[in-house]
Amino acid sequence: MKKQILGLGGGWLLGWLVACGPVTTHRPWAPPPLPPGLAALPQPAHNPSTEAGVALGRQLFFDPALSGNNRLACASCHQPARAFTDGQALSQLGASGRPLKRNVPTLANLAWAEGLFWDGGAKNLESLVFGPLRHPDELAQDLAALPAELARNPTYPPQFAQAFGTDSITLALLARALAQYQRSLLSFNSRYDAWQAGRIQINDLEMNGWKVFNQHCSGCHPPPRFTDDRYHNTGLDTAFTPDHEGIYLGRERITGQPADRGRFKTPTLRNLARTAPYFHDGRAATLPQVLAHYHTGVRLSPTLDSLLRPGPGKPRPGLALSLADREALLAFLATLNDEGFGE
Ligand code: HEC
Ligand code: HEC
Repeated sequence: MKKQILGLGGGWLLGWLVACGPVTTHRPWAPPPLPPGLAALPQPAHNPSTEAGVALGRQLFFDPALSGNNRLACASCHQPARAFTDGQALSQLGASGRPLKRNVPTLANLAWAEGLFWDGGAKNLESLVFGPLRHPDELAQDLAALPAELARNPTYPPQFAQAFGTDSITLALLARALAQYQRSLLSFNSRYDAWQAGRIQINDLEMNGWKVFNQHCSGCHPPPRFTDDRYHNTGLDTAFTPDHEGIYLGRERITGQPADRGRFKTPTLRNLARTAPYFHDGRAATLPQVLAHYHTGVRLSPTLDSLLRPGPGKPRPGLALSLADREALLAFLATLNDEGFGE
């Protein structure tokens, strides 16, 4: 559906309608109000989000036609009810049934992410799409065959036309639509947010947890997204093998820098009630286990983060968290759950 201006004369009204058509179908997608201190929703200049683009991306995200066997979708592993995770340590939900090498991350608030994947191996949501689409243990889709397959579904050509002004389906447009949908996955509607906005109070235990959090955790998990977009070695391991194309090396796999060995991206802490198990390989089943790791489980290695290293008055690596601190932290972390996210 190309924007075209008909000549004046008898067709002027029709011409006006056609010319204005794209204005309504290309209506920009407007995010809900964002928390203070957060930059406006980042969008690449070549792919600004529109209502039609987000709606198309949503349909694609849930469509099993995107997989080689036509039984799996992005949403098989990124399940809305689980805040776009899958509840498994290492997912076996892909096309091969073989366990993946890393835990499925939530997709909340990724529009602001500076790197994607646990090691930052993807730079933007557009280019990331081709990884899971092609991977034999994920969707195992033959990319060359996909545009024609989608074009056979009569609902898609008009939807692509609405979103992008052309009904010829390409992989690039598919990636753009999926990226627009994922940028729309915002989670800023928790009790924490209501408290920050002055609409509710939090209780004393939660407030204590907030104080402990600011003392020990916000250095890497700063609000409002609760991630610093950086990579840290949090002392989960002492040895990092180069097996499986360096997947266990963390950020070093991407940068080639030994200083990045064992460093993984700081995950958001929003919706933890629905994103278990935790850490890049899902090794912690519960939040008390995560806190026990920070308290007594942190192990020394050359790239261990400075915040977790032993120092003056701190004989052991890790964070000194009393039982009361940990109870309060759990209460505070629960204020970050946003029940409406994923609906
Ligand atoms: C078989 C399960 C599976 C499927 C299907 C799947 N993913 Fe993922 N996804 C993962 C895993 C595991 C990771 C983490 C990989 C890593 O970090 O190395 C991931 C990571 C991501 C990330 C990065 C998130 C972040 O915080 O960095 C995005 C975005 C994403 N997937 C989008 C998609 C899209 C879009 C699709 C469909 C085209 C899809 N995924 C299909 C398992 C899956
Ligand atoms: C030095 C930076 C740093 C500090 C300090 C830190 N974290 Fe983390 N946190 C990370 C990184 C990086 C990961 C991912 C580690 C991995 O899986 O390899 C993580 C993972 C987590 C996870 C798992 C989330 C998920 O989805 O898998 C939770 C929960 C968590 N941290 C809570 C906390 C709490 C609570 C504190 C304070 C007691 C804290 N963190 C302190 C950097 C940090």
